[in-house]
Order: sequence, then structure tokens, then C-alpha cells
Amino acid sequence: MAHPIRLAVVGGNRGGNFTHALKAFESKIRLDAVCDLSEEVLAHWKQGHPGIRTTTRYETLLEDAEIDAVLVATPMQLHAPQALQALKAGKHVLSEVIAACTLDECWELVETVEKTGLTYMMAENYCYTREAMMIKHMAEQGLFGDATYAEGAYIHDCRSLMYNPDGTRTWRGKLSGTQIRRSNGYPTHSLGPVSQWLGITRGDRFKSTTTFVTREAARHEWAQTLLGKDHPDAQPAAWDGAADSASTLIETEKGRVILLRVDSASPRPHNMTHYVLQGTKGAYISPRYHKESALVWLEGLGKGSATPHSKEHPEWQSLWDFADRYEHPRWKKHGEQAKNAGHGGGDFFELEDFADAVLNQKLPPIDVYDAATWSCITPLSGLNVQKKGEPLDVPDFLRGKKRPG
Ligand SMILES: NC(=O)c1ccc[n+]([C@@H]2O[C@H](COP(=O)([O-])OP(=O)(O)OC[C@H]3O[C@@H](n4cnc5c(N)ncnc54)[C@H](O)[C@@H]3O)[C@@H](O)[C@H]2O)c1
Repeated sequence: MAHPIRLAVVGGNRGGNFTHALKAFESKIRLDAVCDLSEEVLAHWKQGHPGIRTTTRYETLLEDAEIDAVLVATPMQLHAPQALQALKAGKHVLSEVIAACTLDECWELVETVEKTGLTYMMAENYCYTREAMMIKHMAEQGLFGDATYAEGAYIHDCRSLMYNPDGTRTWRGKLSGTQIRRSNGYPTHSLGPVSQWLGITRGDRFKSTTTFVTREAARHEWAQTLLGKDHPDAQPAAWDGAADSASTLIETEKGRVILLRVDSASPRPHNMTHYVLQGTKGAYISPRYHKESALVWLEGLGKGSATPHSKEHPEWQSLWDFADRYEHPRWKKHGEQAKNAGHGGGDFFELEDFADAVLNQKLPPIDVYDAATWSCITPLSGLNVQKKGEPLDVPDFLRGKKRPG
């Protein structure tokens, strides 16, 4: 492709977060158009980006021959339908998380990407934080030995996003009352990094999974305080389809176990990281809150040893004691620039990888197989809950084959 990739955003709120990262890659990718249903959002974009083309009609954007790629950043349930529309219109796609809400959508994404040969990447920015990339770099060098167990959790009180100022429910509020919330409805922030550390879809794969959910308690309490005790949403019955917290177990073909949790309703301070990695030569635990350090212990490199006859017990050490040796090279080089681009650096690196994949016609690091594999936990976990925890097989979206190319 001779020119910079001509990008359009659909979904102008989250889509707007990428403008810092886009500035860093002007020669590779250029934002030319934005589509949003809200004229107010579009007016805001026009102010910040004079010359940008705007539309409320997604089809207009897809018919535009001067657009090469679409960043899908609309409400979650629209990601797969809009990504499929874009691919069928010949556009490359960078899709916000999660990629799809149903198993059929996961398969259709895989089949459409294979058929069109276009670039599809899921924008799972949590894979690109400084910590996640350093752990990946260390795992790839075998510093944790043979990994057997991992944990990931996304615990973020998002109840303030459930209502519009006029008291009607936002799309997040509406989804909260549906089946998607009696499931692990947002698994990829936790599962993405963990999958990369374990080489999922690259040597190992998810075999089976189950999920249990708690009852709903926190959402109707929020509604009571916000809207008054007589409001319909202040009654527990209004949230029959919801759960406050979901816990998922995944077993892999190589006999590893992953424990995931999602909770977007329970009141508590936010913490971006909740991860564990355990191997035969080392272990990692992420900070419990932002002032704490990430901890590792590494046999032969860290303090103490877990070998027989060792005189010194293994001791946790700050991950950052090892930064000189094991910081991910991309973070070493571009860390400062990335940090300023949003979401702990994630938006910067994922945009760079997407541009690279499109321009060099190669598979992106989070391709459609990863997107489908990580996202399918949402519909599968909903089925697990309906079947009272019965484990279910996870589809192999590569169908036993190696990646094409
Ligand atoms: N990766 C991350 O860290 C991260 C952070 C925030 C949001 N997200 C994801 O980004 C997506 C958007 O989240 P948000 O917080 O911006 O939501 P939002 O509700 O604030 O904004 C959604 C925007 O999409 C527009 N929209 C809705 N339907 C549309 C349609 N059919 N066509 C065009 N525009 C449409 C709305 O008008 C609105 O401006 C969600 O899937 C969310 O999960 C990801």
C-alpha cells in the first residue's frame, strides 16, 4: 500500500481515545472519517479534526472507496456485525473488545477473514501494558519454566456507566439485565495477556470451560441511590438476568488451568491488573492495587531456591528489579511515548501492530483466531451457567490447522 492507511472510526467516543496514538504513526495510518449516530459527537470531532469526513450512516463510510480500514469502537454487541460488514465491503478491521457475543459470530468472523484475506485484529490493549509485555517476554525465554497455571481478572466497578443523565439505561445498563451478564461477559482484558503467556492458539489451546456466577446485588442498590427506591430499576427483579461476579475455569490441551473473574458491578477501588502465572521455575503475581509492585520469583535468578537441600527459601522480588535484563524491547524503546498515548501504553502498540499488519500483509499478533478463541468464552460461559456449571468444549477456530501464511 503506497499511501498511509486511510482509517475511519465507527463509534466516536472510545474511538477518540486513539487520537494520541494516531499522531505517533502519521506516516503509516491517517484518520480520515468518523461515523457516529450522534450529531453532537460528530460536531465535537469536526472541531478537533478540521477536514475530517463525518457521517451518521455506517453504509456511507463502507461505500467510500477512499477508506482502507475501519476501527470498530461502538457498543459491544455491534462489534461483530459491523466488523463483518466492513470486511465484506473490502475494508481491513481493527475491532474493540470483545470481538463477538455469539459462537456463530465467532465462526463467521473466522470464515470471512479467511475468505477475504483482509487484516482483522482485535484491539486488546491489556496485552500491551508494560507489565504484560515484560511477562510475555520472560515467558517466551522460559524463565517461568513449564507454565501450569494462570489467573486473570477484570474487576472494575462500572455502575456509573449504566445510566444516561436522563435516567434511561445506556447500552451497558441494558446489557446488564440480559443473559450476557449471567456469564463472563467481558473476558478478554484478563484472558488476552494470559493466553499470550501460555501460547494459546500457538502450541496449546483451550479444551473445556465452565463458569459460575453470583447473584445480583450491587446494581439495584446503585439504582436505588441514584433514582430513588420506587424506581423499577431499584427492585432486584429488574436485574433478574444479571450477576455481580462471574468465575470461569478453562482447561487447556496441555493440562494447564486458567482461572478468570469478571466483576463490573461490585463497589471497590479500581485496579487494572489481577494476574498470576505459575510455572516449574518461577511465579508472577500482579499488584493488588496501584501503589504495590508486581512480584516475581525466578529459580536461579531471584532470591532463594525451591530445589531440594536449598538453605534459602524462595523470596518474592519486585518485577522491576529485572527490568534492565527483561523489559520488553518495544517498551524499552518507546515506553515514554506509549505511556502518553492512553490505556497504559496499550493503544500505542496495538495501533502500531495493526498498521504493520496491513502495510506488510502479515497476520497481526491478535488475529481473528485469537479474537474468536478469547471472545467465545462469553457465549460459552452463558451456556455453562444455564447448564448449572456443566463443562463445555471450546471450539478450535484453527480447526487443527496451522495459521495460514
Ligand atoms: N479496550 C478498552 O480499554 C476499552 C475502553 C473503553 C471502551 N471500550 C470498548 O469500546 C466500545 C465503546 O465503548 P464507549 O465507552 O465508547 O461507549 P459509549 O456508549 O460511550 O460510546 C459509543 C458510541 O457509539 C455510538 N454508536 C452507537 N451505535 C452506533 C452505530 N450503530 N453506528 C455508529 N455509532 C454508534 C454512540 O453514539 C456513541 O457515541 C465498547 O465495546 C467498549 O467495551 C474498550
